[in-house]
Amino acid sequence: MSKISVGLLGASGLVGEEYLRLLKNHPQFEVVFQPNRNTLLDFDAARPCQFLFSALPSDRAQQVELEYAKRGFPIFSSASCHRLEEDIPLIIPEINPDHLEMIPLQQKRRGWEKGFIVAKPNCTLQSYLLPLYPLHKRFQLERLAVTNLQAITGAGRTFKLSGNIIPYISGEEEKSETEPLKILGTWDGSRLHPASLVISSHCTRVPVLHGHLACVSASFKKKPTLDQVLEAWETFEGLDLPTAPKRPLIYFEENDRPQPLLDASCDRGMAVTVGRLRSCSLFDIRFTALSHNLIRGAAGGGVLTAELYYEKIKHI
Ligand SMILES: NC(=O)c1ccc[n+]([C@@H]2O[C@H](COP(=O)([O-])OP(=O)(O)OC[C@H]3O[C@@H](n4cnc5c(N)ncnc54)[C@H](OP(=O)(O)O)[C@@H]3O)[C@@H](O)[C@H]2O)c1
Repeated sequence: MSKISVGLLGASGLVGEEYLRLLKNHPQFEVVFQPNRNTLLDFDAARPCQFLFSALPSDRAQQVELEYAKRGFPIFSSASCHRLEEDIPLIIPEINPDHLEMIPLQQKRRGWEKGFIVAKPNCTLQSYLLPLYPLHKRFQLERLAVTNLQAITGAGRTFKLSGNIIPYISGEEEKSETEPLKILGTWDGSRLHPASLVISSHCTRVPVLHGHLACVSASFKKKPTLDQVLEAWETFEGLDLPTAPKRPLIYFEENDRPQPLLDASCDRGMAVTVGRLRSCSLFDIRFTALSHNLIRGAAGGGVLTAELYYEKIKHI
């Protein structure tokens, strides 16, 4: 089977490098176009591409992604600029694959014939949203308090941090409080209804290379037992796609896991690892969860979303 030719914007960045690594021997996709920052808008050179991955900083992605989409290129974006726009799907493939159905509406509204934009969510929320999703389905999530300990590679190549913690990351608390409402929202065929829940998030930068760890407390409408929570996690199934982890959630019984250094790369960095489930004196339950910011939280999530899209259109 011949491969689908794809492009990559921002290939020289940390996320871009991860895309290149994941796509090197990919069974479906082959990178044939990777412009540098001075040749970014080269529509002729991009012509062989059936779609583009974007790993650009948001301020540049804002215009560049629109230009490409307007000219007929589908974009799978890691940047934050378009995530909350009403007609742009914000996808975690195991959670809301049906939101891809808003693509035709996006194209109609914007007058784009073939191009479209699909966004991948903020890397921080990937650690806690995947374990919360099967619980939300059964018990209906109502309130969430989360403290995120975020790795330095989440801030791009030039960020340095050692022997310290920075208690502020610009824009991250807003993203981790608003994006989950869209992702957990309900698509009714013509409109997305955001989930109704309250989230309070702290985002801190810690001297860890890879992996964002979240300390989570959550309350639900129907109160789950700890055994029911574990059962929901253990029975949560993965997708049948090349980049998908076999088990999206891996629970550790040990009290001192998951740890970024030991566990961020579980199942090629695509699994979310979870531990320390216990009851909470303020909320119903609490636990810790970890995901690899550059893989599940960025390039791996982007590749998986594109795989999902191509799997879906095969069946249309
Ligand atoms: N790092 C993470 O964990 C993570 C996770 C999820 C999402 N994201 C998002 O993914 C995107 C990339 O992040 P990153 O960590 O890979 O950043 P990065 O290491 O700083 O890389 C940025 C990439 O964009 C290019 N670039 C920067 N400014 C540009 C400009 N003005 N015009 C054209 N190209 C420009 C860079 O090219 P040069 O090499 O020429 O500078 C590089 O290829 C961002 O939107 C980020 O928010 C990152």
